[in-house]
Amino acid sequence: MRLADTLNNSLQNPADFAHGPAFPLRPIRSFVRREGRMTHAQQRALADYWATFGVDAVAGLLNLEALFGRSASRTLEIGFGNGESLATMAAAHPDEDYLGIEVHRPGVGHLLLRATALQLTNLRVLCTDAVEALDRQIPDDAFDRIQIFFPDPWPKVRHHKRRLIQAERVTLLVRKLKPGGQLHVATDCEDYADVILALFNAIPELENVAGDGGFVPRPVWRPLTRFEQRGQRLGHLIRDLLFTRRVSGDHREQNA
Ligand SMILES: C[S@@+](CC[C@H](N)C(=O)[O-])C[C@H]1O[C@@H](n2cnc3c(N)ncnc32)[C@H](O)[C@@H]1O
Repeated sequence: MRLADTLNNSLQNPADFAHGPAFPLRPIRSFVRREGRMTHAQQRALADYWATFGVDAVAGLLNLEALFGRSASRTLEIGFGNGESLATMAAAHPDEDYLGIEVHRPGVGHLLLRATALQLTNLRVLCTDAVEALDRQIPDDAFDRIQIFFPDPWPKVRHHKRRLIQAERVTLLVRKLKPGGQLHVATDCEDYADVILALFNAIPELENVAGDGGFVPRPVWRPLTRFEQRGQRLGHLIRDLLFTRRVSGDHREQNA
């Protein structure tokens, strides 16, 4: 049973959990849905361009080939913020397809404006909780690259449970990569970087691209993001983590 189904069942059958639910009744989210100020242009973009780029919630798995109308190298970006870096990457690689997931509607509106101005045909957008989408909508073995740039750091210890990258989610993320695909995370939060590094290094199916088991130098092809600029202004150390999903059997050979 999928995690999301379990959560739904727990909502439908509260009596089954008289001694406390197997999962909390309200799932702990990695975001707080603050709508913030949406500009007129962003509102108009959501109304006018969602039909071109947006992917509506559907029951069951997405058919990514049908969605993009072809079979090409595919990147998934989770939490793209205002989407500037995602649009830049999609424009630089018209032969590759990009799927972005973001909950913040003004950011989605911003990306739709950029995608329209750049006349992108290789970008699709989901406006939903990425954890639920990974659990219910995204097929396994589907992406050549998954990128998460500057996930919310939730710096207070009591909020660490809200962090997007958690031990129990890493295998879910890895499953969505094709064998040989890459998982790329960047963050300006030092303790979060160390936690993610330890989590990824502990997964036998993942191979750290940094030969020494640490971080990689900032790849030149990663566009500067809005939150990275903020981190730089604050003097934060920026960390990039790059891992490859081993091709089946690789880790068994290594550990033999
Ligand atoms: C700190 S911002 C970074 C934005 C962008 N990647 C950048 O570097 O400028 C983190 C983003 O992740 C989004 N986010 C957090 N949890 C999410 C989730 N479960 N599903 C989708 N988006 C999420 C937030 O709405 C926010 O826009």
